[in-house]
Amino acid sequence: MRQPRFVQMHQENNDATRAAIAAGLMGEPAQVDPKYFYDALGSRLFDAITELPEYYPTRLERGIFEAHRLDIASALGTGRTLVDLGAGSCQKAASWFDALAPKRYVAVDISVQYLEHVLRQLQREHLDLDILGLGLDFAQDLNLPADVGDGERLMFYPGSSIGNFNPEQALKFLQQARVAAQGGALLIGVDLVKDKTVLEAAYDDPLQVTAAFNRNLLRRLNVLLGCNAALEDFTHVALFNEVQSRIEMHLQASRALTLRWPGGARTLAAGERIHTENSYKYRVEDFDALLREAGFVQTRCWTDERRWFAVFTARA
Ligand code: AVJ
Repeated sequence: MRQPRFVQMHQENNDATRAAIAAGLMGEPAQVDPKYFYDALGSRLFDAITELPEYYPTRLERGIFEAHRLDIASALGTGRTLVDLGAGSCQKAASWFDALAPKRYVAVDISVQYLEHVLRQLQREHLDLDILGLGLDFAQDLNLPADVGDGERLMFYPGSSIGNFNPEQALKFLQQARVAAQGGALLIGVDLVKDKTVLEAAYDDPLQVTAAFNRNLLRRLNVLLGCNAALEDFTHVALFNEVQSRIEMHLQASRALTLRWPGGARTLAAGERIHTENSYKYRVEDFDALLREAGFVQTRCWTDERRWFAVFTARA
């Protein structure tokens, strides 16, 4: 029976990780990279977020995919290598297998370990598909190894994950995705600017699942850095910054305190915040312009009725 292949490019270097986290905490303001949200518990909390009535992006994207599946597939072209950036459970990409008939499926995630189980199961359901699991931190640098094979590629970046990049980083990422597509295409989900109350409710839900997701980062600091953060000293803050067009998430110290870890310390005044995430929101015409600036052509956009979320296709 056919088996998936696995390639790990990204090597976890604990010293480098610790140094990067410590440097962020020493910053003005203190900050932590949102990639550290996603340990086993953090990933499950994020999955719970996607079920919240207030968190519309996942649901709306799925609705747009379902309503326009065949139109989107014909805009993209079939029979390519499907490159899934941030694959996770691989379910979103798998929903495209029938319509896109990929000749190969490449699941990219930071750790190939989680992908192993998921891809072995997927292979049982798609016996003839050529499947590759790739461990790669593509947010740093999207440089696909030769294992991906030649031929045109369809770059798949759903979920509005692009929102974690600032516009300058997003442009660089899209330029790299265009090169990596080797003449193929891009399918990407983008969250749109809308009423501030809707945006803020999506990131500060009354059940406080997003608060738990954010505060889980303190547990991560304690594990990764050997830090002494007490979870009860921090509250979740989410706000829409209209000037920068982004949701910001912060952990706010409710009293003056000092975070200590081996080799470092950071004092926070009462009310001072650690900046934990940005989630940029675009206008359709601005994201279209960004795609063209990155060198994409034949850009097309699908949205829901309220124009809260957009799915773009473009040719490399
Ligand atoms: C996974 C980055 C798309 O920005 O909406 C959800 C992460 N953070 N709620 C987003 C997130 C808080 C999410 N992305």
